[in-house]
Amino acid sequence: MSSSWHFVLVLSIATIYFLANASFVQGLNAIDKCWRPNPNWRRMRMQLATCSVGFSGKMTNNIGKDTIQYTVTDPSDDPSNPKPGTLRYGATMITGKVWITFKNKMSIKLQKPLLVSSFTSIDGRGVDVDITGVGCLVLYKVTDVIIHGLKIHHCNSHGPSSVMGPDGKLMPLGQMDGDAIRLVTASKIWIDHNTLYSCHDGLLDVTRGSTGITISNNWFRDQDKVMLLGHDDGYVRDKDMKVSVIFNHFGPNCNQRMPRVRFGYAHVANNFYRGWEQYAIGGSMNPSIKSESNFFVAPESGTKEVTWRNGIDKSSNPWNFYSKGDFFKNGASFVQTGLGRAKPNYTKEQMFKIVDAKSVKSLSSSSGALKCKTRSTC
Ligand SMILES: *[C@@H]1O[C@H](CO)[C@@H](O)[C@H](O)[C@H]1NC(C)=O
Repeated sequence: MSSSWHFVLVLSIATIYFLANASFVQGLNAIDKCWRPNPNWRRMRMQLATCSVGFSGKMTNNIGKDTIQYTVTDPSDDPSNPKPGTLRYGATMITGKVWITFKNKMSIKLQKPLLVSSFTSIDGRGVDVDITGVGCLVLYKVTDVIIHGLKIHHCNSHGPSSVMGPDGKLMPLGQMDGDAIRLVTASKIWIDHNTLYSCHDGLLDVTRGSTGITISNNWFRDQDKVMLLGHDDGYVRDKDMKVSVIFNHFGPNCNQRMPRVRFGYAHVANNFYRGWEQYAIGGSMNPSIKSESNFFVAPESGTKEVTWRNGIDKSSNPWNFYSKGDFFKNGASFVQTGLGRAKPNYTKEQMFKIVDAKSVKSLSSSSGALKCKTRSTC
């Protein structure tokens, strides 16, 4: 009798556990579903590289037997002579494939912008990592970079200077405006689950012919100029730029550029917008934008219109601003232009499942740097 009671009890607990886990998995987006249900993710950190979707494609060039595992143990920063154990040493000085993790909770104050080299993965999962100071992260002429699970904020501007580069030589750097992350002629880059806020200029700039970029699961807040895709109105090479902006959370207190696009193409899908002041999505120089199944909550007062166009000549060249399956709240509206549908034409490995816009609010509730408890899923 008692053993059958035990059996029923165990079975019920197992069922409850199974159902809870099933609903946890069901609430995850295409990227998170790939690794977050795995309770052994800490021992299989590099598996993350197989989870990216969108224009970055899979980040499998970053992993393999030849990948150096590097742990940041020292929060200090010496830009001209980076010390082993610091983030700058791992991200700049180690060439080839490196997978960077952090020993414990730390706050890193950069003394100069941090140049991240190719085939570098920075993985902040499981610890609280704050990066502030001058810069901040600069991806200059690099490919195959993963930035995951960092809080980057209060990044300040800096005049022209020189900083240690990947080749161990001091590299001249021009004026830095004070962005959390800045891409300059970078390709195959995945920026996932970071919390970015309160920087001097913008939070994320993709410039000078950068392409093959996925910006996913990030939380952008408290910023005037949030995200710039495309260098300036004269930089025609950005017409080849392709960026996926997916599963992100914008707001509160974001004013404009979520994103602002020049020349290139942006697939903006399944993002949650908690208001804006001037606009959410816009651009200049004939960009193509597909806005798909986003959740737009217009601000209480002011502009309800999502889009903004600078210098459009409606008669000659109608830009492709296309909205499909978006959900509009609080009077939000989206002015479409152009006849084409601006399809992303993803390859099979870039393709992912887009969810109904109405579930985006709950889906994006875990955007930004995740809190991962010990011995459990993130
Ligand atoms: C996808 O293909 C169509 C048709 O060829 C083309 O017009 C469009 O520009 C392509 N989209 C991208 C992002 O390249």
